[in-house]
Amino acid sequence: MSDPETTARTRKSKVIYASFGPNERAMVDKVHPLWLRRLFIRLLGIKLQLQFTGWLQYLMPVPITLGLFLLVGLIYLVGLTGLANVLIWLPVILAAIILFDIVTCRFCIRLPEPLPKTRSREDIFELIRDRRSCRAYQTRPLIPIHEQALKARIAIHLQQPRLGNAPIRLEWVKAPITVWPVVNARYFLVAIAPAEYNRTAILDIGRTLQKIVLDATRMGLGTCWIGPGADHRSVKTHLRERFDKKKDSIICLCAVGYESWYAPLFIRFFNTQLHKRLPLSDLFFVDNAMKEALKIDKSPWEAFNRCFESCRWAPSSYNGQTTRCIAHKKGSQVRLDFYATTSSRYYAAVATGIWCANWEVGCEALGIQGEFLRLPPQERKNLPDDVLPPHYDISWLSAPLI
Ligand SMILES: Cc1cc2nc3c(=O)[nH]c(=O)nc-3n(C[C@H](O)[C@H](O)[C@H](O)COP(=O)(O)O)c2cc1C
Repeated sequence: MSDPETTARTRKSKVIYASFGPNERAMVDKVHPLWLRRLFIRLLGIKLQLQFTGWLQYLMPVPITLGLFLLVGLIYLVGLTGLANVLIWLPVILAAIILFDIVTCRFCIRLPEPLPKTRSREDIFELIRDRRSCRAYQTRPLIPIHEQALKARIAIHLQQPRLGNAPIRLEWVKAPITVWPVVNARYFLVAIAPAEYNRTAILDIGRTLQKIVLDATRMGLGTCWIGPGADHRSVKTHLRERFDKKKDSIICLCAVGYESWYAPLFIRFFNTQLHKRLPLSDLFFVDNAMKEALKIDKSPWEAFNRCFESCRWAPSSYNGQTTRCIAHKKGSQVRLDFYATTSSRYYAAVATGIWCANWEVGCEALGIQGEFLRLPPQERKNLPDDVLPPHYDISWLSAPLI
């Protein structure tokens, strides 16, 4: 029998757990024993609470600034006044930036900004390469022409054949959903899969939403995928009757809007740190052990060069870059098997779906035909002692290449 205190602690943990999204729940579910699991839930709850106050983005540089003030004070006290007089500018400038960010981004007191230019002249490869996550938005609403054009593209993409049969939905929400660390986003697409876990539905979400992201990028709009940074309570509040907890699972969001020049210092830093990519030799392989890199400059692979790059620049949660590919050549056909390197049930699957979209639109642009299919292990020619990444997701098989 457990004592009342333990029961209360367990109840509190259950309440916090209920507010998590499916990915956080999956992480918690892996933790044992019970006391560690409860601790993990509490810590994760505190982290999310801090993130979703809407202030953390601005306050992240505060400890560094205070530390610098302290350091300069010490330098002054040991008698190096000349050095202290110079160094004092560093924390003063940082403090001024923090204040400026709060006034312009948190309270939105700022000069109006122009509408972005469309990028209709760029080819799909340039769009894929130049797309970046936009984490600071203008406060102006979308102009009707953009909102309507985007909604039309969403409708078209949702009607396209999918990899699986499970229904997926993309709900358009015009409201300030609480997200991290993105600021001032007012428009979102909320990706919903059936409540019962279905990996192919999640691949489909990644594939479909990425095509919409590319359309939005072409229109000059900024976008940001949001998974772990979404406050699920806020999402559900804004979805209202469009969310049924018995039937639906919120997989991720995508913020859409006009990129703003006004971005908190922390977001500027975050953007640059999370935009690096692994080299192609770490992503595409010829052997099941993933030791030998694919020779992308040799026939027949050189024809796919721009598609490889497109996959490389695909977004992934916290830039985890969890997708890998094993390439095969058989006669005049080629096949690419896409794997997830982690056992993450949600965001790694979304990332593979995004790779599928980038691969597919790239091949379309190059006039190369092919189709996606799921192959059983014997057809993938996996040997019994092959050490493969945790998850095979899907293959792409080309039509015979001329
Ligand atoms: C499934 C998924 C979830 C993501 N979740 C977040 C998030 O919660 N917050 C955020 O700021 N960015 C999020 N991102 C954006 C990634 O951090 C970003 O794509 C990655 O760092 C690469 O940077 P880039 O998009 O500028 O190329 C997510 C991306 C994906 C694909």
